[in-house]
Amino acid sequence: MQAVKSLGKRLDAIFELVNAVQQCKTYDAIWDCGCDHGYLGQKILANDLCTTLYFVDQVTHIIDQLNRKLAGYYRSNRYRTVATDAGKIQFPSGQRHLVILAGIGGERIAEILHDISRKRDNQQIDYLLCPSTTAYELREYLSTTAFSLHHECIVSEKGRDYEIIFTQAKQKKQGGRKVSLTGSMWDANNAFHIRYHQRLIAHHQKQRLGNNNKRARTILQHYENCFCRTVHSNSE
Ligand SMILES: C[S@@+](CC[C@H](N)C(=O)[O-])C[C@H]1O[C@@H](n2cnc3c(N)ncnc32)[C@H](O)[C@@H]1O
Repeated sequence: MQAVKSLGKRLDAIFELVNAVQQCKTYDAIWDCGCDHGYLGQKILANDLCTTLYFVDQVTHIIDQLNRKLAGYYRSNRYRTVATDAGKIQFPSGQRHLVILAGIGGERIAEILHDISRKRDNQQIDYLLCPSTTAYELREYLSTTAFSLHHECIVSEKGRDYEIIFTQAKQKKQGGRKVSLTGSMWDANNAFHIRYHQRLIAHHQKQRLGNNNKRARTILQHYENCFCRTVHSNSE
């Protein structure tokens, strides 16, 4: 088995969430989408956390490289590699799936989720999402479509801050907690949260000066209130 190096705080935080939920063997299949180097999937594989681990990337030579790397270390019945756009995945039926999308922009992740949801026939699919940018746009998609929230947090690594959103594509009539536009995970005593918040405010203040300034003003208002909302209420 290949020694899996430390992944860094961001991917480690995702791994720890997977590890926690898989203590109850919640999912049969885990999909490391946009896997690139494949480190996260390999750590999940090395820790025997699911029946089948799928490595997915849209770039064929990344998958070719990964195939060569994995062959010497893991039994081939434990994993699959797929060179495709994550939105085009064909999910085997009768299984519980966890799809991880990390290191991809929030708007792109929303497009992938939209493509998957169009052809999902009563499949149980949960998602662990960690957008590299535009978390608001991703949350906007999740909050206006049928997604419910399991867990959310902020993780900081090398001077950057990331949101992790663990969410479920709801079946018809399923209830659950709504994904909010800015999140309910804000902690006014956490210096990383304050830094991330200030950066979001600065970014949207700049956007307010551009063409779509009405939308930027609305987003800014949501962010300006997010610490208060966390204290007083969990909804937007
Ligand atoms: C920056 S890497 C992220 C690697 C790893 N997931 C992480 O978080 O460190 C982004 C990877 O996502 C892949 N990617 C982007 N959009 C994709 C899509 N729609 N379907 C599959 N792979 C995609 C890219 O080819 C690239 O390898």
